[in-house]
Amino acid sequence: MAGSDVNDAGVATGSTEDTWAPGPAGPAVAERADRLQELARRNLWMHFTRMGSYDADHQVPVIVRGEGCYVYDEHGKRYLDGLSALYCVNAGHGRAELGEAAAAQAAQLGFYTNWSYAHPPAIELAAKIASMTPGNLNRVFFTSGGSEAVESAWKLAKAYHRARGDLNRHKLISRNLAYHGVSMGALTATGLPPLREPFEPLTPGGVHVPNTNSYRWKEDRDPLWAADAIEEAIEFEGADTVAAVILEPVQNGGGCFTPQEGYFQRVREICDRHGVLLISDEVICAWGRLGHWFGCERYGYQPDMITTAKGISSAYVPLGAVIAGDHIAEPFLHGTASFVHGFTFGGHPVSCAVGLANIELMEREDLPGNVRANEGLFREMLDSLRDLPIVGDVRGAGYFHAIELVKDKETKETFDGEESEYLLRGFLSGELYRRGLICRTDDRGDPIVQLSPPLIAGPEQFEEILSILRPVLSEAAERMHSWSSRSRA
Ligand SMILES: Cc1ncc(COP(=O)(O)O)c(C=O)c1O
Repeated sequence: MAGSDVNDAGVATGSTEDTWAPGPAGPAVAERADRLQELARRNLWMHFTRMGSYDADHQVPVIVRGEGCYVYDEHGKRYLDGLSALYCVNAGHGRAELGEAAAAQAAQLGFYTNWSYAHPPAIELAAKIASMTPGNLNRVFFTSGGSEAVESAWKLAKAYHRARGDLNRHKLISRNLAYHGVSMGALTATGLPPLREPFEPLTPGGVHVPNTNSYRWKEDRDPLWAADAIEEAIEFEGADTVAAVILEPVQNGGGCFTPQEGYFQRVREICDRHGVLLISDEVICAWGRLGHWFGCERYGYQPDMITTAKGISSAYVPLGAVIAGDHIAEPFLHGTASFVHGFTFGGHPVSCAVGLANIELMEREDLPGNVRANEGLFREMLDSLRDLPIVGDVRGAGYFHAIELVKDKETKETFDGEESEYLLRGFLSGELYRRGLICRTDDRGDPIVQLSPPLIAGPEQFEEILSILRPVLSEAAERMHSWSSRSRA
């Protein structure tokens, strides 16, 4: 990943002694940076990270400051954040008003729970969300993140069916390669074998179906076959055992798989025919990422529930939610009925206050509108890379796109495990970072580079992305070519 030679081209001019703001670099900055490296290696357990890969030559990438579409490391070097941290800093970095909203709320009421109590920020945010959602999605159950939202939605689907006397509906259908989180229920929905296998046995009831990646489909394939595969799975499992289907508007895992025209309408029909709930997992795809407040609006379908997190607060504080239709909430609104589920921090007042301030900011600046206005240019920039021999496919929607890397464009042959390890971890991710671009390289499906910039990004950032991606991908193609020649020799 980040090398010890990070202070080269694209370096901001260093940091002052007392802050991480740009300014002349001094010995105090270097000393502090060394100390952070040492402590990170000794004490910090990083998520999904090969911690053994950091040594004297490979530093832990430490990000200390952010402004707009850019972040700065502990040496003052600037990076274009082409990933919005992790698909979540939708409003961009350094938005002081979100911090001010948090401070004001902490001074007023630092914490109260949503277990049996309410408080103004949770009430107001729930009402605000309900006013923005399509259809009857008017009831908001807050969580602290995406996995908790998915976990809660599955439990709510089961509880809803039980409350209606449908006692056996417990299964959850999701798609191959999809990522829905890591808690045991959410992990069951996640369709990525390397993430699942170490934790088997998972929660009973997970069923996986094909996704909408048409890159390698035969040309004459029925475009809605993947939707119909959901019906086959429901019939195979027995409709009376299936609680819900969970799908992202654009699937992240595997690299920004968009739906075929009519896919979600077909899925909706199938769900209705079999009494199965449709959950739209919009942990990434809501809050303007696809140019709309909610991803389902872009594709014109009405889910029974939306799960969301990340961009709801532009990630300034942890916040997630299940947004349920009135019909889902209805069985829990009478007599002694209750959804016996909750988290201490679900609907934390500081998080909700920041969520409200974030939505106000995004509305004021019309960030979904900025995505709609510029996504064509963003896509054009990425499509211009198709002439490179390593670029097989470019796909996605809004500010959420992936480039699939292939060994052979004609045959669409992919890289094997060893090649992909060298390509992504041995070269691409370190080189992109070294040149000042943060994006995601991922080979949990076929190898991809993924981009998801803050929603304030525009032509200037696209040009900068291109000026780094083109030479790095060209060099990657050359390196992979020599690698294959060497291994054939
Ligand atoms: C679609 C989807 N669902 C669920 C999750 C899990 O969210 P979290 O990491 O906040 O638990 C993610 C995370 O990226 C996601 O993309």
